[in-house]
Amino acid sequence: MTSYERISVTPLTPAVGAELGGVDIAAGVDDETLRGIHAALMAHGVVFFRDQDITPVQQRDFAARFGRLRTAKRSAFLVEDGVPEMHVLINDRERPPNVNHYHSDGIFRAEPEFASILRAVEVPEAGGDTIFVGMGAAYDALSDDMKAYLADKEAMHDFMKLHGSPKKFRSWEGDNWKRMEASRVANPPVAHQVVKVHPVTGRKSLYISESFTASILGVGEDESRGLLDMLNRHCARPEFQCRFHWRPHSVALWDNRSTSHYACADYWPERRLMNRVTIETDALGAASAEAAE
Ligand code: SIN
Repeated sequence: MTSYERISVTPLTPAVGAELGGVDIAAGVDDETLRGIHAALMAHGVVFFRDQDITPVQQRDFAARFGRLRTAKRSAFLVEDGVPEMHVLINDRERPPNVNHYHSDGIFRAEPEFASILRAVEVPEAGGDTIFVGMGAAYDALSDDMKAYLADKEAMHDFMKLHGSPKKFRSWEGDNWKRMEASRVANPPVAHQVVKVHPVTGRKSLYISESFTASILGVGEDESRGLLDMLNRHCARPEFQCRFHWRPHSVALWDNRSTSHYACADYWPERRLMNRVTIETDALGAASAEAAE
């Protein structure tokens, strides 16, 4: 059993997102507070913390409390010196923002990651917000007929749908070509169910992404394209979203199994610098499922 006794939880919208109070990552987070954060994450899909003046190592160590971390490969993003689990997302005049596409991190992998934790280090004067989509709310709003139609459908997800597109051509320049090619080989196209049943909450959500979902399996090409167009438009409806405005030391922790996100690219040529750590496995979710058995 968990409660929010140690933290405050203020929902941003009914569909997704909550701002949490009463958490000081630098001072240390006790186990009860951690369970409260995890419960809020399960309930809201993404949780936000303000004014967390922490180091890259403190961010990494906080992330590790939730599960096993992924070692960050340098390919599309840089890696923080001395913190091999941390990607550095840096955009400025020479490196225009290019994460302005709806996606769920790792959807193109055979075993997609559980969560991501992103911290704002430098933010533009205006803009650079991140939009999050509650994919459970998007699923709930479909008609019963569409839910029945999608129930047994699988979709193919392809790393190259995004990374082979003009948006990402700079990632393949010069020396980085070898790293991108290694990522392409490590991530061949993979199929996942279109309707995902959340392993902890049991809630159903849509599991597709504008950036990586290439086709719906078992239907004709036109039907697949029409369906994906319709579903992507549906998921982009503001009713299923929240929009987070970053300040320095803001932190977002999101569940990739129930949300997707879009980083607004409206601030170029200003600079924006973010640190991201990827959590592969949901240790607290697994523990609570085990306790419930
Ligand atoms: C991401 O897509 O993981 C980064 C989102 C952001 O920079 O706001």
